[in-house]
Amino acid sequence: MTRLDHDTVRTVGDLPVAERRDDAWRTLLAQEEPVRMADGLAVTGLAAVKAVLREPNRFSAKKAFDTVETGYPLIPLAFDPPEQTRYRRILQPFFSPRRIRPLEETLRARAVALVEAVKARGACDFVADVAVPFPAQALLTLLGLPLEDHVRFTEWKNAAIELTADASGELPLTDEERTARIGRTMAMGGYLAELIHTRRAHPGDDILSELLAIDGADRLSDDEALGLCLMFVMAGLETVTDALSLGMERLATHPERRRELADDLSLVPAAVEELLRLDPPAPFLPRVTTEDVEIAGCPVPAGTWVNVHLSTANRDEAGCPHAETIDFHRPDNAHTSFGLGAHRCLGAHLARLEMQLLLEEWHRRIPEYTITEGTPHRARLIRANIGMESLRLTLGGA
Ligand code: HEM
Repeated sequence: MTRLDHDTVRTVGDLPVAERRDDAWRTLLAQEEPVRMADGLAVTGLAAVKAVLREPNRFSAKKAFDTVETGYPLIPLAFDPPEQTRYRRILQPFFSPRRIRPLEETLRARAVALVEAVKARGACDFVADVAVPFPAQALLTLLGLPLEDHVRFTEWKNAAIELTADASGELPLTDEERTARIGRTMAMGGYLAELIHTRRAHPGDDILSELLAIDGADRLSDDEALGLCLMFVMAGLETVTDALSLGMERLATHPERRRELADDLSLVPAAVEELLRLDPPAPFLPRVTTEDVEIAGCPVPAGTWVNVHLSTANRDEAGCPHAETIDFHRPDNAHTSFGLGAHRCLGAHLARLEMQLLLEEWHRRIPEYTITEGTPHRARLIRANIGMESLRLTLGGA
């Protein structure tokens, strides 16, 4: 086992995640856990990851997500049970497969339009041209908003993530940069507050209008509705963008798996799970202990920051044999990329549908593609998100 040199590796961001993320996660998993880092303890093995995420009151998400710079707490992520349980009970039906499936036709048409546009050009930056607009358009469809707003939404979401990274010291901004981002985050809050106001007065045929129409004990206040909308923006855009871009980079750099998928599109759902297992776009989830606890036999005091690593848990051979191999035929791919326990992803059906539609329509039309020679394809870890900075692809056979 290679021991981490804690003078050079103070946080996970010091591992070679940009160019060699597989090596980075392998190295982290090989350490004795919990791994002490400058930004808290890292929990890495599958058993410990499950143990922490299944005790939401001893390992608090509320205390960890208090620091996210959106102005309003994200609902339900920034709450612990029982408050969080109530929000989930209200929200769950809106994200069930029965509610998400009817979106398929519209989302498929959007995926086809994006793929056709880049195919006509013969080359693209997959991140900017496909992976960024597609989930933003899906969210706007869900909220019944004009598709052109996707550019604004993406800018606002980026500003909120960068402000959070600035607050943690990870991405220091100048005063001017910070002011600009605060302005954008406030613009997002203003836009969403206005939207809530309008939809209360004139309900549409969208999930936000339905949520606002709930009456009685479960009625959502305007502030609660705002926290919810912010959560959809923060949870629904970056994750799918990152998962798609990391997945496509993996396919582009593994031509045998790319060909296998393009030759048999019935493998797409299994490929989505395997790509998500290898590249969880939220590679770790932050928590703060509310009392003295033990992690992997090690005493940990109350108030400790704990990062729970899905990227390593998914590579733990205890849960996934030959974990480093890309395999679209795993009989049981129970990865942790959508989280576990009380806060497991509410948008998982939507996310899976988006990824499946995009990969299917892409490979149906563009079975051959390579990374454009001489262009960098680096991953970028910012706060607890990892994605590709850019992914320039040349389309068509050699
Ligand atoms: C590939 C895409 C996605 C991945 C990998 C993903 C992953 C996750 C993970 C790991 C969590 C748990 C966070 C934690 O415990 O700290 C989570 C929570 C959540 N996700 Fe997703 N997500 C994705 C897409 C989406 C989408 C499209 C939506 C909806 C618009 C969404 C909505 C949510 C919500 C509302 C929560 C909070 C649940 C709670 O706190 O109870 N996610 N997601």
